[in-house]
Amino acid sequence: MSENKNNIAKLSLPNGNSYELPIHSGTIGPDVIEIKKLYSDSDHFTYDPGFTSTGSCKSDITYIDGDKGVLLHRGYRIEDLADNCDYLEVAYLLLNGELPNKLQKSAFDNKITTHTMVHEQLALFFRGFRRDAHAMAVMCGVVGALSAFYHDSTDITDPSQRLVASHRLVAKVPTIAAMAYKFSLGQPFIYPRNDLTYSENFLHMMFSVPAEEYKIDPVLAKAMDKILILHADHEQNASTSTVRLAGSSGANPFACISAGIASLWGPSHGGANEAVIHMLNNIQKTGNVHEYVKKAKDPNDPFRLMGFGHRVYKNYDPRATVMKKTADEVLKAVGKENEPMFKLARELEKIALEDEYFISKKLYPNVDFYSGVILQAMGFPSSIFTVLFAVARTVGWVAQWNEMIEDPEQRIGRPRQLYTGSSERDFINIQNRI
Ligand code: ACO
Repeated sequence: MSENKNNIAKLSLPNGNSYELPIHSGTIGPDVIEIKKLYSDSDHFTYDPGFTSTGSCKSDITYIDGDKGVLLHRGYRIEDLADNCDYLEVAYLLLNGELPNKLQKSAFDNKITTHTMVHEQLALFFRGFRRDAHAMAVMCGVVGALSAFYHDSTDITDPSQRLVASHRLVAKVPTIAAMAYKFSLGQPFIYPRNDLTYSENFLHMMFSVPAEEYKIDPVLAKAMDKILILHADHEQNASTSTVRLAGSSGANPFACISAGIASLWGPSHGGANEAVIHMLNNIQKTGNVHEYVKKAKDPNDPFRLMGFGHRVYKNYDPRATVMKKTADEVLKAVGKENEPMFKLARELEKIALEDEYFISKKLYPNVDFYSGVILQAMGFPSSIFTVLFAVARTVGWVAQWNEMIEDPEQRIGRPRQLYTGSSERDFINIQNRI
């Protein structure tokens, strides 16, 4: 971050006082106006619900240009990473800042692989949940409970403990996710296999049963890997900011990631691909796709086409381009190209891309539109979609958490407020209240 000496913002208040606020430039992206001392100097806060104009930290990890449809991790385009790397390569990049060489990659793969098992006693935890519990509820509980099992990696002041905790989280969250899924089905937990890649192992833990051999389809393993890569990090979104805020108090990493999972669970964040499938099911029931498009365009109808539009990307979501190609490959591999739901998805995509309403408002299919379609075709129930998102995003959360802990400017997060309640008033005893 560099201070742009020629650029000082001037703030004048109605009381006649004025203040000079330094402007900083990042490597790319908009400049930021520093307001750190505004309160102590001027006795004023800024007001920004939803933090739409507020930068909460410096970060070297991810850059998004929503207008141009660009997503970079450590400077590399997401399309290049998705085309050329496997998930653990991207995980290494996010955690360490550079792509690994061959030696570093195999050491990292080995490190993660040897941490995939969970403490055997953790399996007993699951028995305390109802079988029909939402898998995200189980994830919040069990991932948070890791701090009760791995005491030797909860001292956040020790860099070696932070590293072990980071590896444990990336390695164990898929195991816990698969256990949550198996528990909901009433099937036995499947132990991880060290001879498989990260994505192959995840499919194995999710879909195999002890009674028969499970053959991993390489097209599906590749698709799983791409889905994980495309969801690995996305700058300071709600769940990542939650992880940083929880961590700013010095909370242990397992508790912080559990907080991130809780935030991701919300339908405005991680639940959109599940909503896509529900919408496609509903359209299928009525059989009239044009009616739904009409409803989406009606300003008096709150209905929106799920999987279209994005808060940040006002051009094409670069992740959606990769997903679309993967969706085509998966549908072909599983022979579902002509199933009604997937034909409907293509029809909807075509109508929306050609419709003036969607074109003029720059509402393109987003990553969730295609990931919903792919995951459904791969045999994942829609209730587990957000869990897969949590598996992918864990490395992003962990990278951002580490960056925050190592930032010398880091302080406990403590936003302020515009108080709108009652001013001080006299207390009234209960017998005198009317
Ligand atoms: N269908 C129909 N109209 C839409 C849609 C949609 N999916 N999305 C936006 N619009 C319209 C709005 O009604 C609004 O119209 P107006 O200008 O006439 O008022 C205009 O497009 C702009 O929409 P905003 O709500 O201002 O856009 P915002 O950036 O706030 O919302 C959001 C983005 C929440 C993603 C929205 O597009 C949406 O609800 N999409 C459907 C849900 C979805 O797919 N979410 C996943 C996002 S991807 C992700 O989180 C990984």
